Amino acid sequence: MRSSDIRSTFLGFFGERDHRVVPSSSLIPSDPTLLLANAGMNQFKPCFLGETVPEHPRAMSVQKCARTSDIENVGRTTRHATFFEMLGNFSFGDYFKAEAISWAWELFTRHYNLDRDRLWVTVYLDDDEAEQLWRGVGVPSERIQRLGMEDNYWSMGMPGPCGPSSELHYDRGPSFGRDGGPAVDGERYQELWNLVFMQNLRGEGTGKGDYPVVGTLPHRNIDTGLGLDRLAAILQDVETVCETDLLAPGFRLVQEMSGREYPGRDGGDTSTSIRIVAEHARSVAFLIADGVLPSRDGRGYVLRRLMRRTILHARRLGIDGPVLAALTGTVVGNLGEAWPELTRESELIRRVVTAEEDGFERTLRQGSRILETAIGRATSPLSGRTAFDLHDTYGFPIDLTLDAARSAGLTVDEDAFAALLDEQRRQAHRASRDRKGEAAARRDLYRRIGAEYGLTEFVGYETTTTETRLVALLDDTGTVQSAREGDQVEVILTRSPFYAEAGGQVGDTGTLRTSDGGVLQVVDTRRGLDGLHVHTVRVTEGEVRPGAEAEATVDADRRAATARSHSATHVLHAMLRRVLGDHAAQRGSRVEPGRLRFDFAHFSALGRAELDTVQTLVNDYLLDDPGVRVWEAGRAEAEAAGAVALFGEKYGDRVRIVDIGDASRELCGGTHVGHGSQAGPVHIVGESSIGTGLRRVEALTGADALRHHDHRRALLTELAALLDVHPDQAPDRLRRRLETLAQTRRELESLRRDRLDEHARRLAAAAEPVPGGWLVARVVDSPDDLRALATRVPAHRPGDGAVVLGAETGGRAL
Ligand code: ALA
Repeated sequence: MRSSDIRSTFLGFFGERDHRVVPSSSLIPSDPTLLLANAGMNQFKPCFLGETVPEHPRAMSVQKCARTSDIENVGRTTRHATFFEMLGNFSFGDYFKAEAISWAWELFTRHYNLDRDRLWVTVYLDDDEAEQLWRGVGVPSERIQRLGMEDNYWSMGMPGPCGPSSELHYDRGPSFGRDGGPAVDGERYQELWNLVFMQNLRGEGTGKGDYPVVGTLPHRNIDTGLGLDRLAAILQDVETVCETDLLAPGFRLVQEMSGREYPGRDGGDTSTSIRIVAEHARSVAFLIADGVLPSRDGRGYVLRRLMRRTILHARRLGIDGPVLAALTGTVVGNLGEAWPELTRESELIRRVVTAEEDGFERTLRQGSRILETAIGRATSPLSGRTAFDLHDTYGFPIDLTLDAARSAGLTVDEDAFAALLDEQRRQAHRASRDRKGEAAARRDLYRRIGAEYGLTEFVGYETTTTETRLVALLDDTGTVQSAREGDQVEVILTRSPFYAEAGGQVGDTGTLRTSDGGVLQVVDTRRGLDGLHVHTVRVTEGEVRPGAEAEATVDADRRAATARSHSATHVLHAMLRRVLGDHAAQRGSRVEPGRLRFDFAHFSALGRAELDTVQTLVNDYLLDDPGVRVWEAGRAEAEAAGAVALFGEKYGDRVRIVDIGDASRELCGGTHVGHGSQAGPVHIVGESSIGTGLRRVEALTGADALRHHDHRRALLTELAALLDVHPDQAPDRLRRRLETLAQTRRELESLRRDRLDEHARRLAAAAEPVPGGWLVARVVDSPDDLRALATRVPAHRPGDGAVVLGAETGGRAL
């Protein structure tokens, strides 16, 4: 069965059982407690915790997962991988163990046609219920084993949701390992599907590494994970997860490039390296497609490490030239249909891996020489200091040093290595405590650059494009002499058209092209110091050095959309004061392309009527097309002219004043439209409190305001279509429908009461005499009405008596 069929069979099966398919989340999870997405349930954590109500109580997905905790095992076992696809079905407070278990069994034995005599099951220590259910579907008790926390209890993060689990394993036969079930041998009895009965909550504990179960979740849930690669290996009858159709093209390419056969003849090393190269290349492609870029820590380091391991194992196989671009290319070709992001980002993947491989080539030459020399001289063990220097200075992951040492028959002083690594981490921690000092040091650096090269000549009021020169490049550590494709650095220019974030207006973005072919995307611009613009850039082509001549171009559409919001903000300010009074002065603002946020002083909430008045005034004023005039003056002159200054903001001696018509005059450094009507429509979307005496208004401007209206109109059209009337008649029609509905409800209610009374009368008539009175004891079939019925019976039967009613609902007695 091809892996595409395995996926579609899974989704088809659970689709028929009312599960809605949810797309895989990115490998970069939204949950801040996770480095990389590592399970299908990650994106549903809030649903399990009861923080979010899911759209539908049953879901299914094919989730991209990355796990590097087992990286040592990849290629050495048949089943480990750093990237894999996890098929999962989920219940949020809906079905539970019984369905999860019987469906898993049905899918495995009837649709994937796995031999039922080879399937083994594990359950958590005290989970008798799960064991009963497995026996109920036909698993003999000798193939059910009980395991503890380690194996059969699953938790996502700590704190987080957790629960006992039950796993389905497949016996691959004696050539894979020892007899005795999954409790004895995980290679032979391979775990395929993990069913988690998510019902508990893990807490913070004492913070010393213990995370006790502290409570139960609001509902009992199901979370399952079926490894696509492992199932494919079995259904395709190949030995390891690296040989399935998911990785086949890369797997073949490594063999072609190296001229080595698989399996290798050297007792395993060749085979291991071939598997590692093919497997890691897939992870690399997926990580980059989701936006991870190589760096010194975090996700970027995971990616870098995978790339480096791939390259080193390729070298071991005797491949000398670059490998990553070709390998990731086969991944895109093979999996691009199932995962379109690979195709979409194929160019980015190619560039990033090429740049990284070039860079690593250089460090590798140096590092390998040092390692070889060290190994040549060393007696076992190799010192921790050598391993640490290789790691720290030459970027050699420790496992590579361990491998090389092992091949030479040496061990490594891993304790000493770990101690050095810890010390480095402690230092990093101390350094981060001293962030403030760092920020001050950074400002000093900007000051030195400003003193040496002068401040930035800002030309962005007149133009959005200009010739300029790069005077300095900076990374986290300080100034640097070059930056290459893939790097993110800061750039200082002699002259810049990029507005640096200030006065609430966002910084400009755009492009820098150097005369020797370098291309830099400007992703943000801010002020390092007053007058010194710092451009955060990503190098997307070539290499750049200080001194390069360049053409700087601001993203003009974005700038125009920002200017609309800024001019609209000034007019909004003026009109708020006109409607509410002069006290309604600005306290802060955020001006972005197409939207604005404006904070001001006022003591009560604004009603919709007041907001409508303000909005109409703003739009009428702008439609009158007032001229926008920008002029400069001394501070005293500006104050005399009545320019409104934002409280607390510093201005230089000469100030810039922006007039829009005669109603708005402000001190302002921002960029504006030339005429009021260019600001386009302004639509206020909300008003809220942001503290005592402080209010916030949010609005959309220009095309974004129009899009908002379009969206609203589409909703109205849809409602009208549902009511089957012209939109103008929709409110009337809906009102009448609601009235009819209320009337119908009342009638139903009265009918129900009549019916209950009638039922109660019949029960009373059939009462049996008993010593001391009468007795009504019956099983009735109206479980919802038991109480109402019981209390009505005595009204129809004088004298002392007793009413005992029972009913059945969903197999339970009431
Ligand atoms: N969340 C469970 C796992 O990852 C299903 O194994």
